[in-house]
Amino acid sequence: MRKILCIVGARPNFMKIAPIMDAMRSCKNIAAKLIHTGQHYDVEMNRKFFDELEIPKPDRDLEVGSGTHAVQTAEIMKRFEPVLDEEKPQAILVVGDVNSTIACALVAVKKSVQVIHVEAGLRSFDRTMPEEINRILTDQISDLLYITEANASEQLCKEGISEQKIHFVGNVMIDTLRRNQTKAPPVAQVLHAIGAGVFAQKPFCILTLHRPSNVDQKEILTRILHGIRHLSEEVPVIFPVHPRTKAKIQEFGLEHLIQSAQIVQTRPLGYLDMLSLNAAAQFVLTDSGGIQEETTALGVPCITLRENTERPITVEQGTNTIVGTDMAKMHRVIQEIRSHGGKSGRIPALWDGQAAIRIAKHLDAYFQ
Ligand code: UD1
Repeated sequence: MRKILCIVGARPNFMKIAPIMDAMRSCKNIAAKLIHTGQHYDVEMNRKFFDELEIPKPDRDLEVGSGTHAVQTAEIMKRFEPVLDEEKPQAILVVGDVNSTIACALVAVKKSVQVIHVEAGLRSFDRTMPEEINRILTDQISDLLYITEANASEQLCKEGISEQKIHFVGNVMIDTLRRNQTKAPPVAQVLHAIGAGVFAQKPFCILTLHRPSNVDQKEILTRILHGIRHLSEEVPVIFPVHPRTKAKIQEFGLEHLIQSAQIVQTRPLGYLDMLSLNAAAQFVLTDSGGIQEETTALGVPCITLRENTERPITVEQGTNTIVGTDMAKMHRVIQEIRSHGGKSGRIPALWDGQAAIRIAKHLDAYFQ
């Protein structure tokens, strides 16, 4: 048996690793272990996802917690190196683009341990985004790159990565979505539980916001929250508030902008509650990567509050529209959705719930 250490650290990793850990159980040639870096640690950002998505308890937890990018990345590397020395795996498997992804990949490559990257090849072409740096560097040092959209291969080849390392397998986020759709609670129940029961019979929208580019500068955050306040006069807004965003709203004294009966603020929600809300929403406003993909799979219009996306297929084929922080543009797109339903989109190739099985089968053959 070949040992593979699978790495998770932050919230968007958990829905990606769940189907992979499950699919790897049927591999004849691979024994998978789960290592948690502890980048996210709150119950709402962490534990709840393990319980709901039935992710096995991590074999190790490095408990790094929060810090600046340099501190967090360095701390993960320092704590992961002895684990790698002890475990002596054949390979490590990293997902997505968070600091844990690049930190563990860097440790492994320098010890001649193979690196497998799931969700490789996505590019926003915006190097001010910390995740873009993590994506480019992780792909450069990976031995196997599993991609979610066929076009990613072209970009990786342009960056000098050999085509033989690249495999189009589909999207593991959508595996998790399909598996959990029937487990999600009824939307009225979720709305009730967060104090938004009065909106159960009405169209509502969801807002998620956490990118540093949107929340770390007072002027931009103020502009967005003004736009949301204005929108809420027309459509109720359900707003699960990310810890970073909560801290910034307090720091900049912007609470008053979202104190309204039409804006329901909650703590970060679990996967199943969020799935239920996203599926029932008239539209979703977000700066998250994963939600752009989930709304495309659900056929729900998505408005992305960013200048770019590393997931262009959600715009070309799916329900996503990019508006940046231009609130007038956001309102125009919303009017179109409210009067004509917005983009209907189609489901991209191989976003069929079977991506993790393809990965596991490929790895099983690769390591035999
Ligand atoms: C990280 C990822 C981002 C991902 C996001 C999802 C990187 C570079 N960024 O950004 O790609 O979309 O997670 O949430 O890896 N905090 C808590 N509890 C927690 C975790 C964080 O309170 O469990 C607070 C900390 O005070 C921290 C802030 O949230 O300062 C931001 O957390 P951090 O992990 O640094 O980055 P995210 O913005 O969450």
